[in-house]
Amino acid sequence: MSDQPIRILLIEDNPGDAELLEVMLGQVAGTPFALECADRLAGGIERLARGGIDLVMLDLTLPDSHGLDTFRKVKARAPSIPIVVMSGISDETIAIKAVHESAQDYLVKGQVTSQLLARGLRYALERKQGELALLRAMEAEQRARRELERAHEELKRTQAQLVQSAKLASLGQLVAGVAHEINNPLAFVANNIVVLERDLASLRDLVRLYQQTDATLAQHQPDTARAIHAAAEAMDLAYTLDNLDGILDRSHDGLKRIQQIVLDLRGFSRASLASDAQHGVDMNDSIASTLNIIRGVARDRDVTLETDFGPLPPGACYPARMNQVVLNLVTNAVEACSAGGKVVVRTRSAPDGALIDVIDNGAGIAPEIRDKIFDPFFTTKQHGEGTGLGLSISHGIVQDHGGRIDVESTPGQGSRFTVFLPAAGGVKGAVADADQTVPS
Ligand SMILES: Nc1ncnc2c1ncn2[C@@H]1O[C@H](COP(=O)(O)OP(=O)(O)O)[C@@H](O)[C@H]1O
Ligand SMILES: [Mg+2]
Repeated sequence: MSDQPIRILLIEDNPGDAELLEVMLGQVAGTPFALECADRLAGGIERLARGGIDLVMLDLTLPDSHGLDTFRKVKARAPSIPIVVMSGISDETIAIKAVHESAQDYLVKGQVTSQLLARGLRYALERKQGELALLRAMEAEQRARRELERAHEELKRTQAQLVQSAKLASLGQLVAGVAHEINNPLAFVANNIVVLERDLASLRDLVRLYQQTDATLAQHQPDTARAIHAAAEAMDLAYTLDNLDGILDRSHDGLKRIQQIVLDLRGFSRASLASDAQHGVDMNDSIASTLNIIRGVARDRDVTLETDFGPLPPGACYPARMNQVVLNLVTNAVEACSAGGKVVVRTRSAPDGALIDVIDNGAGIAPEIRDKIFDPFFTTKQHGEGTGLGLSISHGIVQDHGGRIDVESTPGQGSRFTVFLPAAGGVKGAVADADQTVPS
């Protein structure tokens, strides 16, 4: 820097003063200064616009500008170039004001020696360079802080994902265990019902045969006949015999429902335990199983859960993780609704992939938190009710699939979360076949 000449722009209308300054600068032995002159403010500003000037020496009284205004105009055009203002003895106070407004220094004409001038200019430059260096250091610090914040966010997200996948894995094991425990008694209850049905039919036939002997019995054993009549009346025999079929039918229905629930639980846990991507996954099937898991929660809250499935081409995805996304979105939607609310899960195929909409007519999302809902640990729910992880996890999972989640919401009217999954799939790593990854 020191062997480069300092390029000075002198804006001064008085040729005598300009010449004097030039001479004085020249007198400083080995002065590395290059001087350019402009005799109007307009000309000076034009020169500044072309760049390459290190320092401005500015006469405050020019034909096209006067006083502090002159300084302010130059400052506005070249905020990072140091300006040394020059004034006559009579307007020194204005020059001082300019210094208060960040001029680097001021000189009073007629009181300057070449040595003073050279030193003043160097100081001015050094001070300015110091200011610039400080500014740059502050900017660098700010950048570093932003980097750190980003890294911290990333870390929180990763941690949240880890926590969630660990939770999912243990939930999967738990669910698999429960499903297994229910499955055994369920199997023998189902078998017994079939046996009961057959035996009851035989018993009913037998009772009807006995009933044909009523008259004979009344003749020969009137006491027994009376006791039988009393017992038959007490239990409303006719009704009971008629009702048996209904009871058995309803028991079959109930059993079928329990079997479906167990099947869904097993499907969910199997998916939770298999972390591999799978080919040919029918997302509608997957979503239907997942919805069965939270149907009870929705019913308890008096929220209707509806589906509107469009045909989806079988795709590649991580089914366990996609189930989790659907579970998170639908849980949020149900939780956003008050009693009587409605949640619709809709699927559609798009030209380049599949769309899953989760639409609710619940509380909606206030615009001021709209940017935060995907942040890990952001929740508006009571302590113990919300972890603030659902959406951040879901976002990460959908991103892993090369897709995205969009949100539209009107406070007081409801929200719509739309998941887009690209057909090509961003599914990373080896993709296994759906049927082969199912653990026994
Ligand atoms: N369907 C929705 N309607 C209204 N607000 C929602 C909905 N889904 C998410 N939110 C908001 O986003 C926040 C974060 O959601 P999430 O990450 O799932 O965490 P959590 O459900 O544990 O609070 C919720 O606390 C809620 O304020
Ligand atoms: Mg949630």
